[in-house]
Amino acid sequence: MKFLETRTNRRTLTLGSAAAFAAVTVIPGVKIAAQGEAEDRLEVFSWWTAGSEAAGLEKLFDAFREAAPDVEIINAAVAGGAGANAQAALQTRLAGGDPPDSWQSHLAAELKARYVEPGYCEAIDDLWEEEGWADVIPEGLVDQSTIDGVRYIIPVGVHRGNVMFFNKEFLAEHGIEVGETLSIDEFFAAADTLKEAGVPALALGSKDGFETPHLFENVLAARLGAEAYNGLWDGTTAWDGDEVKAACEDMVKFLGYVNDDHPALTWDGAMQMVMDGTAGFTSMGDWAYGNAVVAGVEDKIGYVAHAGSAGTYIVVVDGFVLPVGAPHPNNARTWLKAVGGADAQVAFAPDKGCIPARTDIDASQLNEYGQWSAKDFAADPSLPSNAHGAAAAPKFQAAISEACVNLLVSMDAAAFQMELADAASAANLGGE
Ligand code: GAL
Repeated sequence: MKFLETRTNRRTLTLGSAAAFAAVTVIPGVKIAAQGEAEDRLEVFSWWTAGSEAAGLEKLFDAFREAAPDVEIINAAVAGGAGANAQAALQTRLAGGDPPDSWQSHLAAELKARYVEPGYCEAIDDLWEEEGWADVIPEGLVDQSTIDGVRYIIPVGVHRGNVMFFNKEFLAEHGIEVGETLSIDEFFAAADTLKEAGVPALALGSKDGFETPHLFENVLAARLGAEAYNGLWDGTTAWDGDEVKAACEDMVKFLGYVNDDHPALTWDGAMQMVMDGTAGFTSMGDWAYGNAVVAGVEDKIGYVAHAGSAGTYIVVVDGFVLPVGAPHPNNARTWLKAVGGADAQVAFAPDKGCIPARTDIDASQLNEYGQWSAKDFAADPSLPSNAHGAAAAPKFQAAISEACVNLLVSMDAAAFQMELADAASAANLGGE
């Protein structure tokens, strides 16, 4: 029955791209081979292999095991922050007609461009109906899970991207105290104190490529505020204007305080420096805090909105999808129902460092960090993340990453801004 349904869906695909063509021509063979198989397995693809990520994923697996105890889970995770390696590996599999049973995606632009437009995802409107998800997932996230009126993903957790984490004891030793918020000037004053003491003020890992653009979008949010930041992605804020100029200059200043070995470190290496007390701060999404939780040192770690960005909340939302041609479609649906459930999301959140995507959860079920994040998520405007796929189509996202890599070498704010502005005009923002 299910196979007939998926085959029908496949026939209705528009052959708008080579990828869609591959999905149409290759997957039927895979389906026939899978038809005789009992659904004894579930293969889940993600990039969750680092401390907080692996621990969080295990919590989601536990929720699935409760629903389907006899099914073997195949964890097909490919390491690399923000999907640095996983996304390319997944594209190869999808183009070759070899999808896993479910994979991790961000919402909005990434979901649309990488997976829905090429015809790799099944609609899951029926699951949304059955599970009543639209009543418990915030409207903004429902919208970002919906492409052209169809729902394709169930969000499992909401990360905040614009957070600075610091080691409280280490900063106290240097006479630095961080209040409820931290302004750009306060950060640079603290950074100068640390620099004089010969320690890096800002731990950065630039190895996976997403960390520098991540820092940059935090800097943009701080300098531009919510409205102008949002305008960066629809063409209403000029990339060659004064606000972006100021942010580019800030960015160069921030990079003046980072550790020399950043090309050898990933986001978790940078967070480790903070946990070890060898650097002052790191500016990262709150999966970094999950690492402190998993290591049992969260009491040592303080957090504050990235310098100057209080009042904005950069959202990084992970979800899971149902592929066209899932080898084990019933298990895949059971998986989606499990990870969309309240218990799974509550169990997942502290280790992963996020808050549940569902809002029908009592704040007392979250740790202190989760309560702080949930309060701001409810109060502040949500800003889409570019480093994590939601704000811009993959080509513009890649161009921004490249400009950031070049900036690490040139440290030239004007050249950086020019490269960004060129990429923005090539992206034809706001136009079709
Ligand atoms: C993000 C993802 C997070 C976390 C992070 C670091 O893109 O949404 O869940 O895994 O990358 O790898």
